[in-house]
Amino acid sequence: MSELAGTPVPGLTKLWTHDPLTAGRYRLVGRLGAGGQGVVYLGEDDAGDRVAVKMVNVDLSDPRARSQFVKEIAAARRVAPFCTAQVLFAEVDGERPYVVSEFIEGPTLHRHVREHGPVTGNALHRLAVGTVTALAAIHSAGVVHCDLKPDNVVLGKDGPRVIDFGIARALGVTETASSRIMGTTAYMAPERFRNDTIGPPCDVFAWAGTIAFAAGGRPPFGNDSLFAVMHRVLNDPPDLPALPSVLDELIRECLAKDPADRPDAERVLVRLLRQDATVTRPLRRESLLEFGNETAGAPTPNHPLPQVPPTAPQPTPTQPVVPAQARPAAQPAQAQPIAPAQARPTQPAHPPVPEPGVGADPGGALRRLRHEAVDAWGISTALFLGSAGAAAGYVASSAPGPAAAAGAAAFVVVYLVRLLVATALGARSDRG
Ligand SMILES: Nc1ncnc2c1ncn2[C@@H]1O[C@H](COP(=O)(O)OP(=O)(O)OP(=O)(O)O)[C@@H](O)[C@H]1O
Ligand SMILES: [Mg+2]
Repeated sequence: MSELAGTPVPGLTKLWTHDPLTAGRYRLVGRLGAGGQGVVYLGEDDAGDRVAVKMVNVDLSDPRARSQFVKEIAAARRVAPFCTAQVLFAEVDGERPYVVSEFIEGPTLHRHVREHGPVTGNALHRLAVGTVTALAAIHSAGVVHCDLKPDNVVLGKDGPRVIDFGIARALGVTETASSRIMGTTAYMAPERFRNDTIGPPCDVFAWAGTIAFAAGGRPPFGNDSLFAVMHRVLNDPPDLPALPSVLDELIRECLAKDPADRPDAERVLVRLLRQDATVTRPLRRESLLEFGNETAGAPTPNHPLPQVPPTAPQPTPTQPVVPAQARPAAQPAQAQPIAPAQARPTQPAHPPVPEPGVGADPGGALRRLRHEAVDAWGISTALFLGSAGAAAGYVASSAPGPAAAAGAAAFVVVYLVRLLVATALGARSDRG
């Protein structure tokens, strides 16, 4: 049983009348909040383990959207749990898709600054180290957060944790024109407005904006009208609060207009850690992340997390899930001489969690069949072709009986063929 079980959660509000009551094996006990992507609920299982359940506002009936969602969430689940809220699983078959993550108790950075003012001194340093450690872990798993901002950093009892990584991409809402992302403009990098390729440097830019917000209470390019912010992001230098010199220098570099001029997250972490470390030897990436994790005050990565529910799909034998630490590095760590990882034993990774994907879910095909069976487009098409069949039957026989039989046969054949093809294609694209 979780030690949190039963304890009140600040900011939790009652479910609304039409809110769902369960998500898989979790009872939904209240609303944690809502944003552009959907509503986040607090879920609790019979053992009292708590999770955050994000019901997303997205129509996944299009196989391509579904397949992108499944792929991005699978990647997000491979992120090593350094200063991040781990993504546990996603459900894409029900009427409302949802993503289940580790629940982090605490206020968001945005709320904390609004209620208590800017973060300073050591707390600011730990926040910067923790959030950039999370970013380095996210990037080393090949994921781009795409929506890092003060609302997506939760200040847990044991350090800051970055949440929601990969979800913006999973939802395909990274396009500048999408109304879903309007609220985050203040942290968006210039390349987002130029429709250029979006990669890890856009997160580094957002990280710098987030830390500047923490230190000064406002984002570095303002937060007024969308076009004014966009203009400043593209053309003006950042308006930064007073910062410790190393952080000031780093943040300015991370806010460079050209993504190629920004340091990567590991490089930023190394430079932040150098400040309070005796330089003795280079560190491997894993040790670097552990060191960042500890400096930020976060729990060790093998901290017990809620178990993946039995309803979650299992990995297919052809796609084994490899622990993040065992995977070959996507980008080699900067071999920077920083210290003291000395006495700490290497923590084993959190056990891998299975990949999502309806292809592996025995109940998935049935649910998809049910979903397709009531698909309005499919029924309309069958009705239309059924009427055409009846008309053709009448022209051929001039009698209502055979015409009705021809119409009914055309309706049944079209309906069944579409149902089977749509179900089969949907399941294939989920596996792909
Ligand atoms: N894993 C989590 N642990 C604890 N609280 C969470 C978690 N995920 C979300 N929350 C809470 O739910 C609230 C709403 O989150 P949500 O992501 O929907 O909104 P947002 O971050 O403001 O906007 P966006 O949709 O752009 O991410 C957050 O402010 C936070 O308080
Ligand atoms: Mg969020």
